[in-house]
Amino acid sequence: MRGDKKNVIKKILVAEELSENISLPADTGITITVTGNVEKTIDSIILESENTTLLCLIVIPINRYETVYRHMNLIDYSKIFYQMLLVGDDSSLPDHNLDRLYHISDFIDEKTSQSKIRFIIEKSFSIIEKHFQNEQKKNWYYAKLIDAQRDQEDLINIGKSLSGEKDMEKLLRLILYLSKKITGADGGSIYLVEEDENSRKRLRFKYSHTFSREIPLEEFVMEMNNKSISGYVAVTGEVLNLPNAYMIDALAPYSFNPYFDRQHSYISRSMLVVPMKNHLDQIIGVIQLINSKEDLSGIRKYENEAFEIKLETEADFDRYVVTFDDRYNSLLEAIAGQAAIAIENNRLINQIQMQFEEFVKASVTAIESRDPATSGHSFRVALICKEMAMAVNSVDKGYLGKYKFTETDIKELEFAALLHDFGKVYIDLNIFKKAKKLYPKDLENLKLRLDYLYRYIELKFFAKEMDIIRESLASNRPSNETLSATHEEKIKKLTRVTEMKEQLIRLNEPTITDLDPDSVLSGILDEIADIECTDITGNSLDILTDLDRINLRIKRGSLNEQERIEIESHVIETYKFVSKIPWPPEYKNIPEIALRHHEKLDGTGYPDRLNGREATSLQSRMMAIADIYDALTAQDRPYKKSVPLDKVLIILKEEADRNKLDPDLVNLFIDTKLYERIPAAVQSI
Ligand SMILES: [Fe+2]
Ligand SMILES: [Fe+2]
Repeated sequence: MRGDKKNVIKKILVAEELSENISLPADTGITITVTGNVEKTIDSIILESENTTLLCLIVIPINRYETVYRHMNLIDYSKIFYQMLLVGDDSSLPDHNLDRLYHISDFIDEKTSQSKIRFIIEKSFSIIEKHFQNEQKKNWYYAKLIDAQRDQEDLINIGKSLSGEKDMEKLLRLILYLSKKITGADGGSIYLVEEDENSRKRLRFKYSHTFSREIPLEEFVMEMNNKSISGYVAVTGEVLNLPNAYMIDALAPYSFNPYFDRQHSYISRSMLVVPMKNHLDQIIGVIQLINSKEDLSGIRKYENEAFEIKLETEADFDRYVVTFDDRYNSLLEAIAGQAAIAIENNRLINQIQMQFEEFVKASVTAIESRDPATSGHSFRVALICKEMAMAVNSVDKGYLGKYKFTETDIKELEFAALLHDFGKVYIDLNIFKKAKKLYPKDLENLKLRLDYLYRYIELKFFAKEMDIIRESLASNRPSNETLSATHEEKIKKLTRVTEMKEQLIRLNEPTITDLDPDSVLSGILDEIADIECTDITGNSLDILTDLDRINLRIKRGSLNEQERIEIESHVIETYKFVSKIPWPPEYKNIPEIALRHHEKLDGTGYPDRLNGREATSLQSRMMAIADIYDALTAQDRPYKKSVPLDKVLIILKEEADRNKLDPDLVNLFIDTKLYERIPAAVQSI
């Protein structure tokens, strides 16, 4: 406690009116001051120096006792320690209320001998000094108590800070920062224990910071043995508190490596090196602090005063560097223990998170591999969403300016995007692949039935022609005219079947034509109804099945109502699946974000036809854009052509103009050329 050193002045103050009447010994070694105004003299001595404590014997007539005592009560008691020697006649004693006797060293009269007065003076100063020492001790213990309380508070705060940090790099930085802040160290390093490929333990120099030098950080590994200081601590688990790194005991197994000092014109003096032990008492690393600093006032305040001292010259090192206070040994050990647990938690959380992320990715890959043409879609949507969130973060004005995504928010969005189409696993894959109104096999069957109809008509007319010829031969009447009329009718009907086949094939196309599929199909059905066509068992044959009729009546796209409902159900299935995952609280929005990726601002989307921007989250609206963008630009599929980029951007803009997509997000997507940030590797997954 260098800060507690004070100037101490010893004085005997004698009231002027007594100076003639009593004779004080002059050889006590204590200055005697005769004063006409005792109170004023005391005040001026104390005021002279802020750091002065006055040890004082006040010699006054007994009738001044009350006044002086009252005055003494007004003075800060840490500034003065005193006794009063009262002078008077025994007869005057009853006139005074001397109820603070501990401040009175004695009561003498004018006849008291010099030797007795000397004794009284010595005894008084002995008492005064004892009081002063007791007070100092009390202050010292009090300061220790405050230190211990601060240490405790620091530990609690450090525990809180460390447990809240999820990023490993930031965590290491925080551990070192807090360790230095507590101990006033100028520099420090963190080493972590790891295993090499042969399961041999080694130390990795992971993070370092020196307040007085700008040194770029370079990780390296070193053998874990007791030859180095950090290695010794990592192997033995002992705390090393070294006053001077250059004066290590010759018998110590470890030695100091001055390489760093030479490289950076630095002088490592005091060192405090503690092991980081986890809850199983295993050493997972080492914290090494260098050069505890104290400024010359000796008062180390709680904040970072020590950090404001730059160690530039050798004189600075001599002047400011002190040995690490012993109390830091256990304190830093406690911090290191908390740090070890935080690091292990961090590793575990990262590992679990990584495993989960890989599992999600593997699942998504497996699902997407059902349809190679769409594989990579969810990964690309996730990437676009992530890029879009970062682009939103850089917007400061307007509607998007109020949104800021944290790293966790972006991770949440990525997970939601990866899983957004997970529900498709429950849906018949053929529906996704359905490129035309009829499935290929249904079209083939229809063509076969039409071919059958063609042959059936042909045969029917052949039989009719045979009948005509047979009848002509039997009746010996020419049949040419009838035959040619029949032939013409046959050709007409067969041509019509061929035309119908072509018409139906055209109708099968999902593109919107001028023709109303309903009326075209009704016409064909009417014509077919006129032809009585039977199968080989004689039952009448439906050329167009009920399903063919439903499908060929589709006005837009290739899906009928039933199929459309089934496809749209994928968002509900996604929601149900994703909701079952016990997400941590920071990812609680994932199911909702994924559920809403097909909602439109104008209320025409699904599953809930939500209306307006406020009805869905920004994340869902971002995903809607990413989803459409990727669906349009995805590489050619057997049943779907890739749309060129310029056309895609026009479509997105139109969708925004038609109040389907969020216009601010579409503008951001186009203006920042966000689509250019998708690496080719992901584009071709
Ligand atoms: Fe979807
Ligand atoms: Fe999608």
